[in-house]
Amino acid sequence: MKPIEIAKDIFSVGAIDWNIRDFHGYSTNHGTTYNAYLVMDEKITLIDTVKKEFADELIANISEIVDPKKIDYVISNHTEMDHSGGLPRLMHKVGEDKPLYCSKMGYKNLSRHFPQKWNYQAVEDGGELSIGKRTLTFMETRMLHWPDSMFTYVKEDGILFSSDAFGQHYAGPERFDADVGDAIMADAKKYFANILLLYSHLILKLVDKVMQMGLALDMICPDHGIIWRKDPLKIINAYVKWSSQKPRRKALVVYDTMWHSTETMAEAIVDALGDQGVDAKPMHLRSWHRSDIMTEVLDAGAVIVGSPTINNGLFPTVIDFLTYMKGLRPKNKIGAAFGSYGWSGEAVKLINKELEAMKFDLVDPGLKIQYVPDDHGIAACHELGKKVAMAIRIDD
Ligand code: FEO
Repeated sequence: MKPIEIAKDIFSVGAIDWNIRDFHGYSTNHGTTYNAYLVMDEKITLIDTVKKEFADELIANISEIVDPKKIDYVISNHTEMDHSGGLPRLMHKVGEDKPLYCSKMGYKNLSRHFPQKWNYQAVEDGGELSIGKRTLTFMETRMLHWPDSMFTYVKEDGILFSSDAFGQHYAGPERFDADVGDAIMADAKKYFANILLLYSHLILKLVDKVMQMGLALDMICPDHGIIWRKDPLKIINAYVKWSSQKPRRKALVVYDTMWHSTETMAEAIVDALGDQGVDAKPMHLRSWHRSDIMTEVLDAGAVIVGSPTINNGLFPTVIDFLTYMKGLRPKNKIGAAFGSYGWSGEAVKLINKELEAMKFDLVDPGLKIQYVPDDHGIAACHELGKKVAMAIRIDD
């Protein structure tokens, strides 16, 4: 990614990772970027770095604008290594003694990632740093999504450097929202659903705080994907909507199957939901990636989970999905379980236990059918679908 000037004397100098397809369990089908920003003021300031493997690209990009040795300050908004992995190479070039600004938790966490004794300058929430014509304001955003996370705001330009928040895993030739249009919202939604969903309550508080502060927001510059310049409020409004987790009249039937019996049940349940006017679809766990299913879960009113019983337990992909979904803590869902079994039939009970742990409202004790569903079994699946349809909450 060639450096570009995104505002007067402010440059995007990060890197594009065109080929990443798995970001610790999240499918990044469109790749991603690791954004870093260089502010050319009296004190030349770099905000964030890149993943370790892209450090040379970052340094080359900076070098097109200024000799990295001339950088005065480095800011780390977030410790996770897709943004800090490039620090050792970068600090080596910039000068190991240059001030490295971060939150208090950033200081602790960076120190645990890197043995170098850098010149850490831990900042307070609301702390300011003059860099010449501009003043940077630091805003702690603890647990959005790490304890160390913070934003850096430049009031003179109305630019918010928002770290992971408002990002998207998207690699493309476009740099701004205006270039890519509405298509980017799908990537932004997936990013939210898989990274930030469990912190929805904090996002609502943060948006409220930012709005009350009356900050001018001419541009939001996240650490992944495109920059919000044409309409920064669009992504803020989307975050408010997604964080509220209002369910739609929509149901997902998420399942895996061994000999098509659980699949037959899934499709019968979907048929019945559809007959009741519910936007429903089956999601086979070996056809859909867990992170794409989570994106669909975001606004679903019901999640119905099916698994055959295998070796007295759940099918591996089903427990994988349930574990993943549980970690992201979706709210306002109803649920149900189903599955085919041979002789022991524990799967439904085990799914129920997981859904209860997620505080889903179970609308049925669950449906298990031995071996292959017959006409009675299909009718029972239809009944289950109808029952879920009757119970689903409608907020749209
Ligand atoms: Fe993009 Fe939390 O790192």
